[in-house]
Amino acid sequence: MIDKSLSLVERILKLKQERNAVILVHNYQLGEIQDIADFVGDSLGLSQNAAKTKADVIVFCGVHFMAETAAILCPDMTVLLPDRHAGCPMANMITPEQLRQKKKELPSASVVCYINSTAAVKAESDICCTSANAVKVVESVANDEILFVPDQYLGHYISTKVNKKMHFWPGYCPTHARIQPQDIIRLKEEYPNAKVVVHPECRPEVIALADEALSTGGIIRYAQREDVRELIVGTELGIIHRLRKENPGKKFIPVSEQAVCPNMKLITLEKVLWSLEEMRPVVKVPERVRLRAKAAVDKMLATV
Ligand code: 13P
Ligand code: SF4
Repeated sequence: MIDKSLSLVERILKLKQERNAVILVHNYQLGEIQDIADFVGDSLGLSQNAAKTKADVIVFCGVHFMAETAAILCPDMTVLLPDRHAGCPMANMITPEQLRQKKKELPSASVVCYINSTAAVKAESDICCTSANAVKVVESVANDEILFVPDQYLGHYISTKVNKKMHFWPGYCPTHARIQPQDIIRLKEEYPNAKVVVHPECRPEVIALADEALSTGGIIRYAQREDVRELIVGTELGIIHRLRKENPGKKFIPVSEQAVCPNMKLITLEKVLWSLEEMRPVVKVPERVRLRAKAAVDKMLATV
């Protein structure tokens, strides 16, 4: 029986222990969620962590495809997503039927899918990638013709780094698409000594103005560099919490106050507690899909 006099956070941590659970948290989550995490990271770090955890339960504080990836990798664990409506609009911009059709049109291309995709789309793909390893994964594919789904902007970014024929699916992240070149130009004028990092889900015109395009984990590491004192950050606002917490004395300037992913913000402390109490919503992948999706994810994990 949970003691109701305990604070919300204490109740979560107590129940977490009783359930033998781990709390995995994406870099865009609310600050108070990041603060109760066993691990905070990007999609690659989160899937690597899920793959090696010995817990019975994973509480996934992120969006659906991330919890689904954990369920693909850990079929014997209970994977909880504290709000089942926390989806990723980009992941839903391609269906497995659409991908099958496109594969028929491009029979000689290998399919690389961004991890921001459904399990059913991963199951139709040759290999998966995240923003942290996308260039490396595409380079690792023996074929010189690639169909990249669903993020056209990440796909375009990769195509500037590799010498392959690439076809893009017209998906995009609505949050990163809000970031405009003018936002960066204005801040560069205001902070002439600042470095600029953006996520590769940004538009090509935005990436062209940045010093680096990096995954959220890459941005966290970049901020630790000695020569970085002021950083203009072109990605979802949630990352600013961790950047400031881990780098006191440095200045972090978000590119746009509009860059908020409403789905990431659906997870709250109350929902984390409720989810551990009720042991739901559970994310599970049908075994036939899971095995094929796992092959694409395993190939990625073996490449990086
Ligand atoms: P990262 O893997 O870089 O954390 O990105 C995930 C994501 O959803 C970006 O919008
Ligand atoms: Fe999806 Fe964009 Fe939100 Fe990332 S920020 S989860 S890509 S909608």
